Amino acid sequence: MKTNEIIPPHGNSLINCFAQNPAEVLKEAREFTSVIVSKRVLCDLEMLAIGAFSPLNGFTGKKDYESIIESMRLSNGLIWPIPITLQVNKETYEKVKNQNKIALKDESDEIVAVLNLKEIYQPDLKKEAELVFKTLDTNHPAVKYLFEAGEYYLAGDVKVLKSTYDEFPEYNLGCTKTREIFSEKGWKQIVAFQTRNPVHRAHEYLLRVALETVDGLMLHPTMGETKGDDIPANIRMKCYKEILEKYFPKNRTLLCIMPASMRYAGPREAVLHAIIRRNYGCTHFIVGRDHAGVGNYYGTYDAQKIFSEFKSNELGITLLFFEHSFYCKACDEMASYKTCPHDASSHMILSGTKVREMLRNGEMPPVEFTRPEIAKILIDSMRQKIPT
Ligand code: ADX
Repeated sequence: MKTNEIIPPHGNSLINCFAQNPAEVLKEAREFTSVIVSKRVLCDLEMLAIGAFSPLNGFTGKKDYESIIESMRLSNGLIWPIPITLQVNKETYEKVKNQNKIALKDESDEIVAVLNLKEIYQPDLKKEAELVFKTLDTNHPAVKYLFEAGEYYLAGDVKVLKSTYDEFPEYNLGCTKTREIFSEKGWKQIVAFQTRNPVHRAHEYLLRVALETVDGLMLHPTMGETKGDDIPANIRMKCYKEILEKYFPKNRTLLCIMPASMRYAGPREAVLHAIIRRNYGCTHFIVGRDHAGVGNYYGTYDAQKIFSEFKSNELGITLLFFEHSFYCKACDEMASYKTCPHDASSHMILSGTKVREMLRNGEMPPVEFTRPEIAKILIDSMRQKIPT
């Protein structure tokens, strides 16, 4: 199979925002006014650079921004659910307002990208929070960021000088590479799985069921910024390697990281996640219960329902929706509300908080909830963090 037989990217062309001549761009950029950007923006730059946000080639301008927040589409009509913005405060705005090009720096003061500044605008942050995140509550991590990061958006295309996400480089494959891999392996149908958690038995069940009907599985955890109480990326990475090694056939799986930050936008983020996976070359995408959710801002299946707002096949990737899954003692296997006839007394459902508490106390959660190998990695990591 040739790479061009793989599913076309969203908007039909795969974007590459890496500078072709980074040394020259860097030389010029040293003369530009500079702005230090947040970790989240560094993740967005990486996603732009590797084509994961195709067809975007930079930070969203006003016309697209308004269209995205109001109708989940770019101004040309293509589906896009969350604006990718570079938010700055008044002080930075004053510094850059008369510039054409800006050097973007990381926290160590190193220039990582150049922004071709096309536009500066003042967004309606309240409206954005209400429409994109469905809440104004600053307990929501992305709403908090939105209300604290400043009242101006800088927009324009970017040239990225080097990878702005430097962890797990051998697993940060980018969209061109995964497409090559799928083509080499001859996989025609590939299911992608988004996660920000270790793979527990419910996750594993979804993976296994999906893999029954397609050629390959791309385990694709979000490894950029996550909220404080999520399990850190390096620990999760150990879990992913372990679960794939012990419980899945090597020739049918690929572990690839997604260098993005979680926004916890629930339904809208599910749409973004599906688009991103199409860009990586996947044909199928799993959406279970409370996808990309946080707190109680979204209904359990809102992230599935949202897809009915688009015409069938408009997204080009096939969605695999799953009901809440769990181990059922009466069925004596993993099941879901869709496949199990027994009542709650047979179902083993543990809250994330309960599981974290067990792990912190060095207690193994039931094997029906988490594989012992995974529980051990998590318990060990917590022991190292909490001195006794
Ligand atoms: S997420 O923020 O990345 O969505 P998580 O890592 O927990 O969180 O979930 C990854 C995917 O598995 C999501 O599609 C989610 O809906 C799904 N999922 C997680 N747990 C379950 C479960 N018990 N039953 C069904 N789907 C689930």
